[in-house]
Amino acid sequence: MDKKARLFAAAYAFSQEEATHFLLPGKEVTIEGAQELLSSLLRQCDGYRTIEDIVTSTSKETGYEETDIWELVDELLVRQILIEATRYYLLFHVASANPMPFWHNLSEEQVLGMVTKGEYFLEQSCGSRPTSLEQLLARRESVREFTGEFLSQEEIERLAWAIYGKAVTFGTVPSGGALYPLRLFVLTPSQEQGRWNCFQARAEGLAPTGTITHETLVHGFLNDANLLEGIGAVYVLACDFLQTTQKYANRGYRYALLEAGHAAQNAYLWCAEQGIGVVEIGGFNDKALSDLLLLSYPREAPLTTLLVGRRKL
Ligand SMILES: Cc1cc2nc3c(=O)[nH]c(=O)nc-3n(C[C@H](O)[C@H](O)[C@H](O)COP(=O)(O)O)c2cc1C
Repeated sequence: MDKKARLFAAAYAFSQEEATHFLLPGKEVTIEGAQELLSSLLRQCDGYRTIEDIVTSTSKETGYEETDIWELVDELLVRQILIEATRYYLLFHVASANPMPFWHNLSEEQVLGMVTKGEYFLEQSCGSRPTSLEQLLARRESVREFTGEFLSQEEIERLAWAIYGKAVTFGTVPSGGALYPLRLFVLTPSQEQGRWNCFQARAEGLAPTGTITHETLVHGFLNDANLLEGIGAVYVLACDFLQTTQKYANRGYRYALLEAGHAAQNAYLWCAEQGIGVVEIGGFNDKALSDLLLLSYPREAPLTTLLVGRRKL
């Protein structure tokens, strides 16, 4: 454990009889005994003080051995009652995962009423002939009906490059601090019925990482089998959060999301140019998708996905 790390108490605590109870999202954790020690320790975990400093002063205040307090800190960290302040983003990431622990109960009518009327969209200037990029931008759209035809290997690879490939200086997208924390995964239908091939994008190409069943993939998309009907490839943009938060701490989390958005837009533009259908899907099961990609969730986690295929005309 980094002794200089700063600790933040993330759970509300209250004492009852001989135990301390902690309220965490959707669950209660109870620790028997050591109430005076817990109370002294937790009061100091404001996110600004280092573990080293907290342990020393708790020992002075309560008379407990420092080694015992280190052990308790360890346990509280494992139980997520304490968190390292620079990893605060993980709380939000988990609280916003699917299946959602907290959600709005909305009727279909309410949802429809929320769709934008477009009052903040700028009309395309019709002064001069639109450039090729402007034409692509104007044609960009989500497609939800696919024919089931395979995409060629070349199409799959070229799209992977457009999403998160190497450009002249760094990548096809900008990245805060040039840290490039995203990992691109591609899943394609296998020749073997009912299975998908998984690949991870690496400098040398798309490296096979194994195969999964169609049911496993459907589970990754919240059991919405219709979503995957006729799809030719699934692209998943995942993030190694440590790579960005080691520099930017919690703000690195925002940068990762923004970077994934850049990459997703590249997919939309490439597909618009090629006449291929694409839809971005944020409605996936975070843990299930992580598991099938062999990610160490939540340190590594999927941020967004793109379903791609030949569009039904
Ligand atoms: C971050 C993000 C998440 C999205 N997630 C979903 C999704 O889970 N399901 C879906 O059908 N569409 C999803 N979409 C696609 C939007 O519904 C679509 O972009 C929107 O309706 C506008 O339509 P257009 O892209 O054709 O202009 C998502 C788009 C974005 C940017």
